[in-house]
Amino acid sequence: MSSLDIDFVRVQFPAFSEPSLQGQAFFENAGGSYTCQPVIDRLTRFYTQRKVQPYAPYEVSRLAGAEMDEARARMAAILGVDTDELSFGPSTTQNTYVLAQAFRQWMKPGEAIVVTNQDHEANSGPWRRLADEGIEIREWQIDPETGSLKPEDLENMLDERVRLVCFPHCSNVVGEINPVTEITAIAHAAGAFVCVDGVSYAPHGFPNVGDLGPDIYLFSTYKTYGPHQGCMVIRRTIGELLPNQAHYFNGDVLYKRFTPAGPDHAQIAACAGMADYVELLSAHHGGPISDAAAQGAFVHDLMRGQEVSLLQPVLDAVKDRNAVRLIGTSDATRRAPTVAMSLNRPAETVAAELAQHGVMAGGGDFYAVRPLQAMGVDPAQGVLRVSFTHYTSQQEIDQLLEALERVL
Ligand SMILES: Cc1ncc(COP(=O)(O)O)c(C=O)c1O
Repeated sequence: MSSLDIDFVRVQFPAFSEPSLQGQAFFENAGGSYTCQPVIDRLTRFYTQRKVQPYAPYEVSRLAGAEMDEARARMAAILGVDTDELSFGPSTTQNTYVLAQAFRQWMKPGEAIVVTNQDHEANSGPWRRLADEGIEIREWQIDPETGSLKPEDLENMLDERVRLVCFPHCSNVVGEINPVTEITAIAHAAGAFVCVDGVSYAPHGFPNVGDLGPDIYLFSTYKTYGPHQGCMVIRRTIGELLPNQAHYFNGDVLYKRFTPAGPDHAQIAACAGMADYVELLSAHHGGPISDAAAQGAFVHDLMRGQEVSLLQPVLDAVKDRNAVRLIGTSDATRRAPTVAMSLNRPAETVAAELAQHGVMAGGGDFYAVRPLQAMGVDPAQGVLRVSFTHYTSQQEIDQLLEALERVL
């Protein structure tokens, strides 16, 4: 297994050579990542050369539509699903609201949905609102100390009335990676479908959703080096079962069924740039050159290896400090590099102090109010969150550690 060529990686992100950003170490990647050059190139080309209604019979329009199709086909291949099982909506939150509306129509009073109190509100609130339709909402709760979800607790909550289990691949404050395959198997054995929020996981390497097994998998491309879209994998069985949410005459096209509004053509086309980036990384590091799913897996492991080795020293530096409560596990191999800390003063103030040292981070509740409350953290005080990705350099980590030493 080769290790990540960080210089090559950073050349693909114009933000790193942007003069106004020099000296600024970026640690709010879980909020939204920098954008890679292939995405910017495609977006620029679309707006300058192809910004017409797509799929009409003139050349520019044909190119616009073909690029949108390319984005769906190539991303679906990386994710290990069929092209029509992938669709784009404005954001993950808007996507879950549309899906919840479909479940609202499909489910009957007395049936049940399992949600967690580990999720970002996007994969929680929209489902909980089905209670006013007579749907029973069961909450799979985290351990208040560790923030972990235990699969055996879920097992005890399932019966024949549960139609859907919603949980995160990785929480945006706890950071621990949940065993999606194991949890999905438990839910499927009880006859329930599974909806996974992958927003906090996908930036650290696209997963093979086909192999992982959930029925629905969601992530946000503005956090995966792309433009501002929400990406949905909706597997065929559930997608054909749920009522169509789009115009009635689009209901027989799987990828249109859960995107009621006209899509953002340019941004969808630009999502092909994320596939370009995966391909570039794979080729540069001697990985597979033709099979997209194999490239995705190779790049996933490259990113993960790099991130885990940079993450452990960060966790070690904060885990035993008196003034800090590290949220989630201190074992880098079990978590994403999204590190939230509860402090003895408002987190936003501390983030502002970090900014004085050229560290860009955030403090607050990050729309993860429920998990923070469940762990006894006052959402008003919030958590300081430092989050990074594979493109973060050792030098930036050093800058972070020095700045933390001064402000904590
Ligand atoms: C884990 C998680 N899920 C969902 C969302 C919501 O995504 P979007 O902004 O695309 O609605 C976020 C955004 O921060 C998130 O971190």
